[in-house]
Amino acid sequence: MKYKKRKYFMAGRINLIQRSKIRELFEKARKMENVISLGIGEPDFDTPQVIKEAAKRALDEGYTHYTPNAGIPEFREAIAEYYKEFYKVDVDPDNIIVTAGAYEATYLAFESLLEQGDDVIIPDPAFVCYVEDAKISEAGILRIPLREENNFRIDPDELVEMITKRTRMIVMNYPNNPTGATLDKETAKAIGQIAEDYNLYILSDEPYEHFLYEGAKHHPMIKYAPDNTVLANSFSKTFAMTGWRLGFAIAPEQVIKDMIKLHAYIVGNVTSFIQIAGITALRDKRSWEAVEKMRKTYAERRKLALRYLSEIPHLKAFRPKGAFYIWVKIDPELDMTSEDFANWLLEEAGVVVIPGTAFGKQGEGWVRISYATKKELLAEAFERIKRAMEKL
Ligand SMILES: Cc1ncc(COP(=O)(O)O)c(C=O)c1O
Repeated sequence: MKYKKRKYFMAGRINLIQRSKIRELFEKARKMENVISLGIGEPDFDTPQVIKEAAKRALDEGYTHYTPNAGIPEFREAIAEYYKEFYKVDVDPDNIIVTAGAYEATYLAFESLLEQGDDVIIPDPAFVCYVEDAKISEAGILRIPLREENNFRIDPDELVEMITKRTRMIVMNYPNNPTGATLDKETAKAIGQIAEDYNLYILSDEPYEHFLYEGAKHHPMIKYAPDNTVLANSFSKTFAMTGWRLGFAIAPEQVIKDMIKLHAYIVGNVTSFIQIAGITALRDKRSWEAVEKMRKTYAERRKLALRYLSEIPHLKAFRPKGAFYIWVKIDPELDMTSEDFANWLLEEAGVVVIPGTAFGKQGEGWVRISYATKKELLAEAFERIKRAMEKL
């Protein structure tokens, strides 16, 4: 069937959403041969077998119906147990909602908590969805710069300076996409205290919590400001389950109630047999063994990538302790914008990297490299980058 060419009336709201600026780069890469992408934002591993088996079994056992909107009670209990076991935090299962990934958890938080006249503070650089979610909620957006000299952590003093009567929420994401930065306990505590003092929500998006290196630790914000935090988390990265769409949020009672209300009319509930598989992911030792194996593989790749980067002229890596990204500074002497550089690298070396400006203005002069790619390909990509850079 072919649709008629006619003018469609659209809600103005939808025009607020900006589609990714790096689409053109990917388009160009798609038309080229022999391109290696270091632009990937998802694990290249397959979901651990034990989780897949649990989903198949759940289907056979008849988990094909609606579930409570907030999620299957046993799954919510398993999530609460997990926080107790890993972080010694008491979470009531009633304060948990099962969502279609961290994306949905984040969207629900923005829509439930913010409206026109409110301001939200979003780091710069930051993962792309927060700004778009903020626009849909009609909140004002203030960007707090993350600086290399601060290890890309939010500076609590700078945060206090930015707070006005309109400020309602601050977004945090550690381990961080795109910089690979992690949070330290002191900063977590300080930001938690600020949120309490100024009555702000913290939206803390923590899907990379298990990918930590060089002894770094994760500090879930519900530990430091439980009454102010909406924690978004996901099975996507931890268990290599991006396509399953499984995540959750933890929030204070009134907030979670409203998030469930909205979720009930968007998603209804997350797929029933996938929730059952989520219980296995959290409770079965074998799935955690798989997570540790993936973490070790990322750690090796990270080492390899950093070694290469230390030898490549005109590029300087921030030493990341989390996630699977490296934030790389382009020599200012080259006088190339991030986008120019990414385009040049694609043409010259056949390697895709993400221009830092995709994550905010502060990303100018930087690119994000992902090492969620097989070691051999990663090595080949860095050989190519090296050869290209040596010509400059
Ligand atoms: C920081 C961050 N938050 C959220 C998401 C979305 O995750 P999910 O698959 O759980 O929706 C991503 C995915 O790349 C991410 O990097």
